[in-house]
Amino acid sequence: MSAAAMDDFPLVIEEPVFYCGFNSPKSYGGNSYFVRHPEGNWLIDSPKFLPRLVRRFEQLGGVAHLFLTHRDDAADAERYARQFGSTRYVHRAELSSQPDAEVVLDGTDPRELAPGFVAIPTPGHAEGHCVLLVGDRFLFTGDHLDFDRHEQRRTASPDYCWYSWPRQTESVRRLLGFPFEWVLPGHGQRVQLPADEMRRQLAGLVERMRAGTG
Ligand SMILES: [Fe+2]
Repeated sequence: MSAAAMDDFPLVIEEPVFYCGFNSPKSYGGNSYFVRHPEGNWLIDSPKFLPRLVRRFEQLGGVAHLFLTHRDDAADAERYARQFGSTRYVHRAELSSQPDAEVVLDGTDPRELAPGFVAIPTPGHAEGHCVLLVGDRFLFTGDHLDFDRHEQRRTASPDYCWYSWPRQTESVRRLLGFPFEWVLPGHGQRVQLPADEMRRQLAGLVERMRAGTG
């Protein structure tokens, strides 16, 4: 990648959401995202810690909040948190990946972390996996749920489920109760659909998951 192209990251997806790039092998190459917000910016999962990216985050106003979906995608979260004095959020069942996290989530009830930012525990892929719903529009899904470009449908895979497939199925079903238009996953394709079409596809996925497929 040229230096100029590297400076494009983080790359805007739709304001105020950016794709960070620089996926870390420590996060199994998972995607991470940046959300600009007047009350403090958010990082969702962690890219590689690179001076170039740190500089860009500085220019954008820093990282006040760092949300970790689950243990696999923590990567350099601690270094970013130290650099920016970020508040880290992680579920208790994933705490081993980030033992010094400032805020520990518990149980399965959704929790508003800041106005418009709701953590929804989604046990399944990992016991303490959580997704983050922003502004009833953007759902950061980690490894809970992604999009298959070829089949044009939402997907989840029993082959990459470390904790419980029945629990993951139930966690996907539960998302039917939340409005959103964007799925922004740790792996696979991000996608935007009207909220009612998103819900329809999600309901279809729940049926397939109950049948034992993704
Ligand atoms: Fe994972």
